Amino acid sequence: MTKASRAVASPRVVNIEDLRTLARARLPKIVFDYLDGGAEDEVTLQANRRAFDAVTFRPRLGVPTDPCDLRTRVLGFHVSFPALLAPVGYSRLMHADGEIAASRAAGAAGTIYILSTISGHRLEDVKAASSGPVWYQLYLLGGREAAEAALERARLAGFSALVVTIDAPVAGMRERDFRNGMKELLGGSLLSKLPFLPQLLARPGWLTEFLLDGGVPKLPNIVVSGQGPMPLIDVGAALARTAVTWEDLDWIRKAWPGPMVIKGVLTGDDARRAVDEGAVAVVVSNHGGRQLDCVPATLRVLPEVVAAVNGRAEVLMDGGVRRGSDIIKAICLGARAVLVGRAYAYGLGAAGEAGVARALQILRADVERTLKLLGCTSIAALNRSYVDVSASWQGS
Ligand SMILES: Cc1cc2nc3c(=O)[nH]c(=O)nc-3n(C[C@H](O)[C@H](O)[C@H](O)COP(=O)(O)O)c2cc1C
Repeated sequence: MTKASRAVASPRVVNIEDLRTLARARLPKIVFDYLDGGAEDEVTLQANRRAFDAVTFRPRLGVPTDPCDLRTRVLGFHVSFPALLAPVGYSRLMHADGEIAASRAAGAAGTIYILSTISGHRLEDVKAASSGPVWYQLYLLGGREAAEAALERARLAGFSALVVTIDAPVAGMRERDFRNGMKELLGGSLLSKLPFLPQLLARPGWLTEFLLDGGVPKLPNIVVSGQGPMPLIDVGAALARTAVTWEDLDWIRKAWPGPMVIKGVLTGDDARRAVDEGAVAVVVSNHGGRQLDCVPATLRVLPEVVAAVNGRAEVLMDGGVRRGSDIIKAICLGARAVLVGRAYAYGLGAAGEAGVARALQILRADVERTLKLLGCTSIAALNRSYVDVSASWQGS
């Protein structure tokens, strides 16, 4: 057992915030801030969290709650509890095992891993690592031809659903990344890197692992013909050249015959449009507050989207989920399940696979305890009657 795995297994690690503290201690500032930060003033980043505080529980006491059934189904796939692992790009910077570690931990916990296009590991290896379903998240980086090639590989490797992210026509303005020198460190000259090197040297454990892993990874699932795998440094500019529009869904659906999920909707209108275009699920998401700042907290718009979709597709949500009670609240407000991003990525940054496993264990235990305290015997039995929503939430 490594020192990092021992640290996440300590009984003093009781919640996701504790994993965040461990990730901060192991990762260089530039990597921790990339993971932790949001766009501009981080208004939406904070709003996502605060929204959960505005929802209170209405427990039913004196109800027997053993056994308590945490299982649900998402797009027909059984999950052991209602949290999926969201696509998190650059995971290999957080830990050398990156996406492979996260995928393996998700499968072992009985849930679904969603692999970002911006992966440092080959999609075939990520799929093989999990004993459970793995979905592929698509950006059109590298253009249509590169996307079609990746989708064909994903299909052959056995990925079971496609998640098309529509909220990133350009990268959001994550100011921490600029201040920390993300651009220079990913691709600049040695001279331009110099001012930013002390933060790497301050984390020798991470730095050694990073160098042994070959340094800044390339993106083996974005292969532009004749050029090979795309370098990480090119992502920002490539994103802006290849925004996904509703028109693209036509050819994407042809290239991907399996189920399609649209991630990043924040209004009832866009959710309806996504379903009309063939989505079998939508993810209410503001990208964890990393794209357009000052959009509302996802939990607040969830009821609007649930009403607009009206049972024609499943509704998932993400943003700010740090506790099992957050998961329960989202389900009471109509989500089928949630995606967690930072909650598991802190674990990944703290200790690789062991850290992700610990994050999922914490969330799962939280969900079970909360259900019992609420006097509810299953995820399936949750509904709006178990929560009260702040009067200040109009229209929900
Ligand atoms: C470090 C990081 C990288 C991300 N990369 C991607 C990505 O490549 N594709 C994507 O669709 N969403 C990406 N997201 C957004 C997540 O999928 C998810 O929407 C968000 O993290 C949810 O908020 P939470 O972190 O508060 O749980 C990323 C989020 C983080 C924190």
